[in-house]
Amino acid sequence: MVIGSEVFSGAWGLKFDEKKIYTILRYAYDKGIREIDTAPIYGKNNHDVEKKIGNVIKKANLKYKINTKFSINKLLIKNKVELEKNLKSQLENSLKSLKKDSIDNYFFHSGTDDEFMIDDAWNFLNQKKKDGLIKNLCISLRHDLVKKNSLKQLDYLEKYGINKISTVCNLYSKESLKKVVPICKKKNIFIYGRMALAKGLLTGKYKSLNAFDRYDPRYKDLKLTKKIIDFSKKIKNLSAKKSVMWSLKHCDKVILGFKNIEQIKSLND
Ligand SMILES: NC(=O)c1ccc[n+]([C@@H]2O[C@H](COP(=O)([O-])OP(=O)(O)OC[C@H]3O[C@@H](n4cnc5c(N)ncnc54)[C@H](OP(=O)(O)O)[C@@H]3O)[C@@H](O)[C@H]2O)c1
Repeated sequence: MVIGSEVFSGAWGLKFDEKKIYTILRYAYDKGIREIDTAPIYGKNNHDVEKKIGNVIKKANLKYKINTKFSINKLLIKNKVELEKNLKSQLENSLKSLKKDSIDNYFFHSGTDDEFMIDDAWNFLNQKKKDGLIKNLCISLRHDLVKKNSLKQLDYLEKYGINKISTVCNLYSKESLKKVVPICKKKNIFIYGRMALAKGLLTGKYKSLNAFDRYDPRYKDLKLTKKIIDFSKKIKNLSAKKSVMWSLKHCDKVILGFKNIEQIKSLND
């Protein structure tokens, strides 16, 4: 299991200070969980959540592996020098925020094919890998591309030295099973499944839309939320554990968001 940290950003309407984050990370660590998924864009300001995680794990000496991400904004980058400068600054800011000497898994953050297929970017990142600043290069696949079966990025795994991917994989959104999972298995690419619980909607606990206030991401698209709840009601004995076990049948690891330690506990029992 990998601890997803988007919820620490406050984007779900809940405040997570370092004390609260410590409680979750300490508990998970003691239960044998050793990996955290984060991103510079989580938080009000860039690197906010990375900084909180960095402070907590450093203070408590928790030896978590860290997955974080980078983006390529083609509009802001006009030439190779600017591209490298931008990537260098993203990497250095993540390392500094996380208080780490290297990033274990560095993910291209759900970008388009145009943003992805830039040889100079991957040459630069592979050099940083050689320098020991990055251990693995990875792609967090953009789900609208997976839905369209537009999987060009997977053709570049070898060329760009990428050995891990993350993809949406849950009982409701099974698109990754068509091609992504078989291709990655064939190429021996490590698969992280994300959103195994469809943001909590595949846990069996939600029966109506009343539970979600306007700060909750599940409130943003109530039509979809209702569809997933209706779907979930048809699954016999649905629980968070059942959904996670389903995703783990297809993926090597799952990335999960937790709001409290009871949610981790219920999966470990
Ligand atoms: N592009 C990308 O790379 C990308 C995109 C999205 C997410 N991610 C990563 O994936 C992580 C997970 O995504 P997510 O948090 O949006 O979705 P998720 O893991 O599918 O759902 C998390 C939510 O499910 C509920 N939950 C968790 N454990 C539970 C349990 N044992 N029993 C009942 N309910 C439980 C909690 O919400 P309630 O208690 O409120 O129901 C929790 O906030 C993110 O934090 C992020 O690190 C990456």
